[in-house]
Amino acid sequence: MSIQKDFKRITTKSLQLLKEQKIKITALTAYDFITAKILDKAGIDIILVGDSLSNVFQGNDTTLPVTMDEMIYHTKAVAKGVERAMIVVDMPFMSYQTNPDEAFRNAGRIMKETPASAVKLEGGKRIAETVKKITEVGIPVMGHVGLLPQSIHSYGSYEARGKSVKEAKAITEDAIALEQAGAFAVVLEKVPAKLAKSISSKLKIPTIGIGAGAFCDGQILVTPDMLGLNVDFHPRFVRYYANLAEEIDIAVKKYIDDVKNGKFPTAKESY
Ligand code: KIV
Repeated sequence: MSIQKDFKRITTKSLQLLKEQKIKITALTAYDFITAKILDKAGIDIILVGDSLSNVFQGNDTTLPVTMDEMIYHTKAVAKGVERAMIVVDMPFMSYQTNPDEAFRNAGRIMKETPASAVKLEGGKRIAETVKKITEVGIPVMGHVGLLPQSIHSYGSYEARGKSVKEAKAITEDAIALEQAGAFAVVLEKVPAKLAKSISSKLKIPTIGIGAGAFCDGQILVTPDMLGLNVDFHPRFVRYYANLAEEIDIAVKKYIDDVKNGKFPTAKESY
């Protein structure tokens, strides 16, 4: 669809327009300059500097350990590779949960110290006051409901959320509370497709799904997952668009072989 080419830079307004025109929004994560540059040149709409960097970059079991300083460090690197996509930054665990004032200061830090255009927070009604405070000063907020990885210890597993009527109602109310508090979009993570469809039709702002079926206004995946780099993690909502772990294995073995056998470098590759 050519409309995407018409946006020089993706903003909250472009995303709203895409929802209104029923054009799907595309989003992927990035944590470094080179990957961000490739994603941006390919035409992705949103690059999320996700706190998933704790898992896929730092090798932690959960997203909890990553810090504000680390999120800012990675965002600065990502931003250097991005011309068109909207850069959204996850607020890490405990940077916004304590009280709205601290959340506001930390969101401000991200906006002041990096070229990001928005922050993302996990939670619904319980953070609505915080979202209102942050958006009121002009910092765009993306919400995140359904499975909340920062709450993994209270769930006990990464099972889909919103399967019971009670939980589906709570997630719907959370998404509505975020829209009312001023969020410009909401991530729906690991909820039934039917629930995501219902929430997407109730909200005026775009929904971005991950493991939430085809009826969201957009989709997001964790880039190392969809590139087949993170092979120990393959839930059914992740489609492999490449098998980079295999490709890298082949390339590294070939390099080792060439060096060991004196085939690299050649005279042409020397000075
Ligand atoms: O941190 C992340 O990558 C995310 C996505 C899974 C939406 O929050």
